[in-house]
Amino acid sequence: MCLSCQALWTLYILCTAGDHGKQCRDTFPHCLSVTWWESHTLTGNSLPWMPQGPLAPGLSMDPRTPVQADTLPKPTIWAEPGSVIPRGKPVAIRCQGTLETQEYRLHKERNPVPWDQKSPLEPGEKANFSIPHMTEKYSGTYHCYYLGPTGWSEHSDPLELVVTGFYTKPTLSALPSPLVISGGNVTLQCGSKLGFARFVLTKEGENKTSWTLDSQRQPNGQFQALFPVGPVIPFHKWMFSCYGFYRNYPHVWSHPSDPLELLVSASHPQDYTVENLIRMSAAGLILVVLGILLFQAQHSQKRPQEADRK
Ligand SMILES: *[C@@H]1O[C@H](CO)[C@@H](O)[C@H](O)[C@H]1NC(C)=O
Ligand SMILES: *[C@@H]1O[C@H](CO)[C@@H](O)[C@H](O)[C@H]1NC(C)=O
Ligand SMILES: *[C@@H]1O[C@H](CO)[C@@H](O)[C@H](O)[C@H]1NC(C)=O
Repeated sequence: MCLSCQALWTLYILCTAGDHGKQCRDTFPHCLSVTWWESHTLTGNSLPWMPQGPLAPGLSMDPRTPVQADTLPKPTIWAEPGSVIPRGKPVAIRCQGTLETQEYRLHKERNPVPWDQKSPLEPGEKANFSIPHMTEKYSGTYHCYYLGPTGWSEHSDPLELVVTGFYTKPTLSALPSPLVISGGNVTLQCGSKLGFARFVLTKEGENKTSWTLDSQRQPNGQFQALFPVGPVIPFHKWMFSCYGFYRNYPHVWSHPSDPLELLVSASHPQDYTVENLIRMSAAGLILVVLGILLFQAQHSQKRPQEADRK
């Protein structure tokens, strides 16, 4: 099968692997061979298509014929320092195959040709696909795969790369308050005037975690999501931020909200009321004693005065 895509300056010719693509490869000996599942992304709505990212057409010419092999385990994909990256900051997409990996390829969803490729210089070396300045163009879903001794591996699990810093930050607040008793629960409210489809709550610290909820429109026109958090334990940092994003751009998030830290009290609030009662009674008792002393002092002062007048 022969496929072509018109890009800005280049006509890309793609030939599928195997017998189907043979005629195409004979006609266009320097054409790019794509694996069966890459060719699947070409069907349907993906044409016409524009290359995204640092796609070098010359670089992608592949004289080999990729053969789909089911035996090679899928590689591992991840992003360093993480998959949620502020606009303009660097990020690296890493991919790890086996010791016998000859070539890595990175595939971005809705992009029919490999986005980039790397050959390990040493056996077992992981691929490093570097993005020096994160933009919305690089946000999206990525897979990687590799060429082993018996052919191309399965593709990795998806990596969702997100860029942040695009719309006005939402507001994050704790209901009823950021003061939480140990073991208690709290609701975090992320809201915005913008019509975000969903909100993401992220927890900072050692184990970064995030939760996503659909937004709800309030009678006052605000959009918000309510995240239940708890039980909240002490001796742990409870620092949160939230983001909003629109339905059609799930990988492009707003600026982060101002961070919100929960303050965990070690004791039960009932203890506080008891303590306060004791404190108030003690204060009251002292006042009474002082009053008595004052009365007595006044009384004893009057007596000598009365005596003088006589
Ligand atoms: C990946 O490549 C970038 C840019 O060349 C570099 O800054 C970064 O240190 C590399 N990461 C690793 C783990 O080698
Ligand atoms: C907090 O929530 C958890 C789970 O929803 C519940 O089991 C627990 O009883 C709640 N704690 C308090 C103090 O309400
Ligand atoms: C972080 O995760 C690790 C492994 O899942 C766990 O052992 C550790 O207790 C977690 N730390 C916190 C602060 O939750």
